[in-house]
Amino acid sequence: MNPINHVAIIMDGNGRWGLKYKNSRNAGHKAGINTVEKIIKESIRRKIKFLTLYAFSTENWKRPQKEVNYLFNLLETFLKNRIEDLNKQKIKLKVIGFKKFSKKLNKLLRISEKKTLKNKKLQINLALNYGSKIELLYAFKNIIKKNEKINEKNINRYLLTKNIPEPDLLIRTGNTKRLSNFLLWQLAYSEIYFEKKLWPDFTESDYGKILEKFKKTKRNFGNI
Ligand code: IPE
Ligand code: IPE
Ligand code: MG
Repeated sequence: MNPINHVAIIMDGNGRWGLKYKNSRNAGHKAGINTVEKIIKESIRRKIKFLTLYAFSTENWKRPQKEVNYLFNLLETFLKNRIEDLNKQKIKLKVIGFKKFSKKLNKLLRISEKKTLKNKKLQINLALNYGSKIELLYAFKNIIKKNEKINEKNINRYLLTKNIPEPDLLIRTGNTKRLSNFLLWQLAYSEIYFEKKLWPDFTESDYGKILEKFKKTKRNFGNI
């Protein structure tokens, strides 16, 4: 049985769900929040230590302003309403991404990270304005700037995921098989599971089935 320590998720399919059921992409984003809550709960129940959620990519700025604004408002409301409780549950929140949002949101993110910094139950890495290519470019640039050696250890040290172990498992919902610039370096040996369901339809039980399947997978890491 494989131990499972870190699950990364590309939460895809909100827009399609919203259009299908409510004639509005944004309604899908709102519905997606419920799935986030369920998956956090189930991750704690299963004693997973790191949960990385892809919430907004460096490419998602291309979307209509109205949708981008809606997404960030949703995040703001979520944090305002839920951070106290997440803290009580001993959840640590960490943003991985480039914090270039409104002053208000930057501050809220900073406060949320600070408040939960010492929590040890589950670490949630929220990938927000995250892009793997730019992350790697910055890592290389900073290593060179500091006159350090370009090696695997130093690259890990300069990534946004510094001190976070590599994901054991990547799940992408929404019936699309691509990585969309997510953790290209860190996923080198992760198991990958593409889920057909759209994110708002994804349940604890779907999640549980994937975790059980993962546990039985033979991981070789190049060995036999
Ligand atoms: C993923 O759902 C959430 C974000 C990118 C913020 P999408 O909004 O990409 O949903 P689809 O893929 O268009 O259905
Ligand atoms: C990936 O989904 C980003 C997030 C889930 C936040 P996208 O919907 O943006 O991916 P593409 O553009 O279809 O590859
Ligand atoms: Mg999508």
